[in-house]
Amino acid sequence: MRFPAEPFRIKVVEPLKPTTREERTARLEEAGMNLFKVPADTIYIDLLTDSGTSAMSDRQWAALMVGDESYAGSRSFYRFESVIRDLFGYKHVIPTHQGRMAENLLFNAIVTPGAIVPNNIHFDTTRANAEQAGAKALDLVVPEGLDPSHRGLFKGNMDVPRLDRVLAENKGKVPVVMLTITNNSGGGQPVSFANARATADVCRKHKVPLFFDACRFAENCWFIQQREAGWSGKPVRQIAQELFALGDGCTMSAKKDGLVNIGGFLAMNDSQWAEKITQRLILVEGFSTYGGLAGRDLEAIAQGLTEVTDEHYLEFRIGQVRRLAEQLMDAGVPIIQPPGGHAVYLDARAIAPHIPPSQFPGQAIAVALYRDYGIRGVEIGSLMFGGPDPATGEEVVPALELVRLAIPRRVYTEAQLAYVGDSVIEVHRGATALKGLRITHGAPFLRHFTAALEEVPAAVPA
Ligand SMILES: Cc1ncc(COP(=O)(O)O)c(C=O)c1O
Repeated sequence: MRFPAEPFRIKVVEPLKPTTREERTARLEEAGMNLFKVPADTIYIDLLTDSGTSAMSDRQWAALMVGDESYAGSRSFYRFESVIRDLFGYKHVIPTHQGRMAENLLFNAIVTPGAIVPNNIHFDTTRANAEQAGAKALDLVVPEGLDPSHRGLFKGNMDVPRLDRVLAENKGKVPVVMLTITNNSGGGQPVSFANARATADVCRKHKVPLFFDACRFAENCWFIQQREAGWSGKPVRQIAQELFALGDGCTMSAKKDGLVNIGGFLAMNDSQWAEKITQRLILVEGFSTYGGLAGRDLEAIAQGLTEVTDEHYLEFRIGQVRRLAEQLMDAGVPIIQPPGGHAVYLDARAIAPHIPPSQFPGQAIAVALYRDYGIRGVEIGSLMFGGPDPATGEEVVPALELVRLAIPRRVYTEAQLAYVGDSVIEVHRGATALKGLRITHGAPFLRHFTAALEEVPAAVPA
């Protein structure tokens, strides 16, 4: 079957309140055309993020009931630890309330001023945490990883010769190399096993530890099984175990492939690092057997990690993203190629070429999707990454203007995603009528979260 059907049935439903175009127009005006500020219950299909938005299974809900809330030595921690040790293979397991705290603890323990932390592409919290600890965060993805029309199968790969050079030229300055699987900031593109092995070999040659940013490890391992010679037929779980065995540790936001709404962890082999991090953990998160989570959260993560490598689930999950992408491609809607594991990215510059980057073409499309169809995506372009350079004051124009439609795990049915596809196709058809936007109120940092905007009246043709 080209697109597998849902490998689950629905036991609990969350009713969605229908809203009219007029109501949504009013909410948009109140929100200053900023989709982070519209009330979520006015949204029919929310594709803002795949993080923390998964539907838990009946077994995860049941696991909550057996959560052990003991402050120290909780039974739930030991289950959590044993599931993670079995899958990831690392000796020390440190729970955190989400992925960015794992990053914060790791970098603050090992980064010294002037350090360099390479990655294929740092996710924004990873970059920010490395930099606040005093490091330079370096992106070393292969060149095709930055080309939206390139149809490479492993566009998340590390540029290993470049990494080798960086490590040779900066001896003693690189405390860790990170490898993000899948590469979220590069469109959810996977890293091949061969590339992870080559990265690990170079790290070993230079005696630098390798850590995975493992948020979407199961989706990455599914792509390895499906696309990489020598891996078809191997269980995804085994691929994951072999992949993690190449490294020395990982950071993880369980809000993605942990199939939960909150949680994360750090795992590693180095006992000195683990001890230093645990001391800080107790200061800022909580005792080492809960680290900022409830016992029931630890249970839900342990159960989620045992479910996420189920291949019927992964086949459906990745198939659902691909089906939406193919519906759009068949109708001529320009998207980033090939579709990644967790989202479809619309190429806003190609959809609305009449709107200059300074008038946020991606935001114009995102606004139209919400106003006309009740769908929320997120602009990843000039609104998110543009603005005046703090050093020079010059306007920064990012390479790409995108709208990301991130698909929450096990949440929406195929009919709902077909509705998303039809709606995007309609917005694309009517794109020449879309109006650009201008900022009426903006914050100096991370302005996309709080900025207020208004539509710019269409230019009257001469
Ligand atoms: C690749 C990657 N790393 C780290 C994080 C941070 O995780 P969290 O949101 O749990 O702090 C994210 C979240 O989206 C991510 O995609």
